Amino acid sequence: METGEVLVIDLFAGPGGLGEGVSSCVHENGNKPFQIGVSVEKEPSAHKTLTTRAFYRKIIETEDGLSSYQSYLYNELTRSELFDRFPIQAAEAQQETLFKPHALGADNKDIHERIRELVNAHGEKPKVVIGGPPCQAYSMAGRSRNAGIKDYVAKKDLRHFLYKEYLKVLSIAQPDVFIMENVRGILSAKVDGEIMFPRILKDLRSPGRITKIATPRYKVFSLVVGTENVNNPSYDDPTDFLIKAENYGVPQARHRVILLGVRADVEGVPRTLARRKRQTTVDQVLSDLPKLRSGFSKRKDEVKEWERAVSKNGTQVKKLLRKQFKNAQDLDLKPFKRLNRSEIQPVTHPEKMPIHLIQWYRNNAPTSVLNHETRGHMESDLLRYAFSAAYTKLSGGTSPKARDFPDALAPEHENWKSGAHADRFRTQAANKCSTTVTSHISKDGHYFIHYDPKQCRSLTVREAARLQTFPDNYKFEGNRTQQYVQVGNAVPPYLAQQIGKVVLELLS
Ligand SMILES: C[S@@+](CC[C@H](N)C(=O)[O-])C[C@H]1O[C@@H](n2cnc3c(N)ncnc32)[C@H](O)[C@@H]1O
Repeated sequence: METGEVLVIDLFAGPGGLGEGVSSCVHENGNKPFQIGVSVEKEPSAHKTLTTRAFYRKIIETEDGLSSYQSYLYNELTRSELFDRFPIQAAEAQQETLFKPHALGADNKDIHERIRELVNAHGEKPKVVIGGPPCQAYSMAGRSRNAGIKDYVAKKDLRHFLYKEYLKVLSIAQPDVFIMENVRGILSAKVDGEIMFPRILKDLRSPGRITKIATPRYKVFSLVVGTENVNNPSYDDPTDFLIKAENYGVPQARHRVILLGVRADVEGVPRTLARRKRQTTVDQVLSDLPKLRSGFSKRKDEVKEWERAVSKNGTQVKKLLRKQFKNAQDLDLKPFKRLNRSEIQPVTHPEKMPIHLIQWYRNNAPTSVLNHETRGHMESDLLRYAFSAAYTKLSGGTSPKARDFPDALAPEHENWKSGAHADRFRTQAANKCSTTVTSHISKDGHYFIHYDPKQCRSLTVREAARLQTFPDNYKFEGNRTQQYVQVGNAVPPYLAQQIGKVVLELLS
């Protein structure tokens, strides 16, 4: 296949995880067939990230592209100085993300017009639509939040029906293949007592029924369970569409519904994803990153004070854990030497990382460690973090529940030990894959405590991005909270690449 032969239309694109994975696929002849034509995103910081990455993909093959991009990463060039150096690629990247954030539904005129232009220009060559309509309304957390809203009427919550915007684009572009990602909650979500998922599947199989535009039919395949009936694929259980990312080399338990739609006239059957024998663990992908101290929130952030607090905590944590773990005394909890909160410098050699992931993360590196800066925490939480991380280490990888915390460390929650807060603090164990990185990580970090008890902190954006398998030179724009949200929302690019390969084989 030729470079750019497959047009990709990326909807609800977030920071571009799905697009990154798919567009990185290489055909056996060495070409990169997937070319993103448009990425539609309404949130400004994610849109900025998308534009930066689109621009990066365009300049990377030029003579000074990589070195200029790296100067930007090292803060030696501003973003506009960088874009000014490559005006043609900058204009193309901006066009790729429609010059500004756009919302499907509200800004359809611009969005549909651009998609029509691209599709017409692409002629008979293959096209792919990717992306997942947002999930708040049918995500578990969303549902319990909604239950508390007076007069909440699911039917009127437009987010339930954003997938219909997806159908409209399917009718306009009539792609050979679509990839639709969503949260697990989509399988059981109900509106007016009706389970939505069978209806969503039915609509995706014949989008024209809803959009009233003549549209070919689609076969919807699972990427993890095979089917006998290839002309009309059907599955016994809706969970057959659930992909567990940890089985495919992603160092994170992330369970998402991913539907692969294939236009009825496209011949061939997509294969299922190849499971990896071993899961990738947290320390395999984080241990080479520079050690950082956390900061203090709600008080002056001073290194000396942090050292004092951490030394004191170390002694207390050992005392608290002595009864449960004989080897608690042996823990080294002394503060480490270089007490930085952020670091821009080349990563050290990732000794524990599997080779295929070294290549994946390094991409076009030598790169600096980007977006690797710690947050400030309350002094009382530093002690809880140290306790939680030390407990996890001594227990061989089990993060303590609320009941495992000594009373001295109980936060001021009325029902702290009732079970409702059992997982209030969760250390991501070094020797396991992590739990799901969600956008909740932007809030307080309590669920995402670093496994090293000496660092007493939650994960940085870069660490979360590693768990999500973003390459190290993927720059997240916006403020730190926005960066966390972007990372938590994405499809792991490494998983997306594997899905892209399945599509590539089908289209070849
Ligand atoms: C789950 S994220 C998508 C992640 C993306 N597929 C990836 O791999 O990075 C959903 C995104 O849809 C965006 N969004 C929500 N409603 C939208 C709309 N009406 N039009 C465009 N984008 C929207 C959100 O801002 C969010 O970034």
